[in-house]
Amino acid sequence: MAVIFPKWTNRVPMVLAAGMPVVTVALIFLIWYTWSPRYTDVGYQPEQPVPFSHALHAGNLGMDCRYCHNTVEQGPHAAIPPTSTCMNCHAQVQTESPRLETVRQSAETGEPIPWVRVHLLPDYAYFDHSVHLAAGVGCSSCHGRVDRMVEVRQAEPLSMRWCLDCHRDPEPNLRPHDQITNMDWDVANNDYNPSEDPHRTRDVNPPQHCSGCHR
Ligand code: HEC
Ligand code: HEC
Ligand code: HEC
Ligand code: HEC
Ligand code: HEC
Repeated sequence: MAVIFPKWTNRVPMVLAAGMPVVTVALIFLIWYTWSPRYTDVGYQPEQPVPFSHALHAGNLGMDCRYCHNTVEQGPHAAIPPTSTCMNCHAQVQTESPRLETVRQSAETGEPIPWVRVHLLPDYAYFDHSVHLAAGVGCSSCHGRVDRMVEVRQAEPLSMRWCLDCHRDPEPNLRPHDQITNMDWDVANNDYNPSEDPHRTRDVNPPQHCSGCHR
């Protein structure tokens, strides 16, 4: 029988098999560092069906974020308020305004207002608001000065690198729990020391291992 392949080639599949996991891990890290941009989607600002302004409601009128996003401390998602929340005021305020026509129609028909989603993680990444708020991370650390936005836009990249930057060193991003919705709280410029806060019962320990966020 003619020898087509030299004998050493018999080991090739084994070497490949042994090398594969290493190559795979190396590839993942390569992808992570090169394709995980710091600034994906920053500035994304879709047009909304109603000219609802956070600058007016949360800024000028000083409404707390949780009046409308009332599930944000209880679970993964921050609820977008139903039309009835708007009508608590707009049944009396600006009842003739054409800018509120869609809101009045929605209240009459029961059809929800088709708000357009601004922030959206891919399905394979797990995120929970309540854990972050309980730890004392404020809305503005992740969403910017929403109280100055006439239309909401994405202020931070929400990329893996961005999540990990904070998870590696969370302390400077923490504040007292009663300040989480305070848009004027400056995380870079305050004397708050989490380890001296009597309301804290433990140190925070955000996950850095893959399965922490990819479950
Ligand atoms: C009067 C009710 C109301 C208040 C108060 C309010 N919001 Fe909103 N928020 C809304 C509505 C309605 C939307 C959906 C329309 C839009 O994106 O503008 C929204 C959207 C958002 C979004 C974008 C959601 C997405 O689709 O990704 C963020 C982030 C947000 N709000 C943060 C805040 C923060 C932070 C505060 C407090 C400073 C706040 N909101 C106060 C009603 C409110
Ligand atoms: C640690 C960062 C972080 C903090 C703090 C934070 N958010 Fe978010 N927020 C996100 C991310 C990430 C998403 C996208 C979540 C997704 O796609 O599953 C999001 C989405 C939202 C949405 C859209 C609906 C949803 O839950 O997906 C609203 C509304 C919102 N945030 C409001 C708030 C408000 C109000 C606060 C403060 C009380 C707050 N967020 C604090 C990171 C944060
Ligand atoms: C706590 C009371 C309150 C709630 C709740 C509230 N608003 Fe308002 N809204 C106001 C006030 C006050 C004004 C300013 C009226 C003025 O300028 O005279 C206003 C103004 C507006 C305007 C501008 C109207 C115009 O013609 O200039 C829009 C649009 C609007 N709101 C939408 C909403 C939507 C959508 C919701 C629910 C997500 C909502 N509002 C919830 C009090 C409220
Ligand atoms: C500004 C700081 C900060 C940012 C940004 C941030 N986190 Fe966190 N994360 C924390 C802190 C603080 C904790 C709480 C750890 C504790 O309580 O021990 C936490 C906890 C978690 C946990 C563990 C708790 C749980 O729900 O199981 C997950 C998962 C998580 N973060 C995912 C994310 C993801 C995904 C992103 C990016 C989209 C992100 N985080 C962005 C600070 C941050
Ligand atoms: C703190 C949360 C967190 C941890 C820990 C984490 N990831 Fe991610 N990862 C994310 C988020 C959020 C995205 C989505 C990023 C986006 O949409 O831009 C992501 C995206 C990815 C992607 C898709 C490509 C990319 O970079 O956007 C890969 C691959 C990935 N992660 C692998 C890993 C591996 C491997 C580990 C462990 C070494 C890991 N992740 C740990 C949050 C995390």
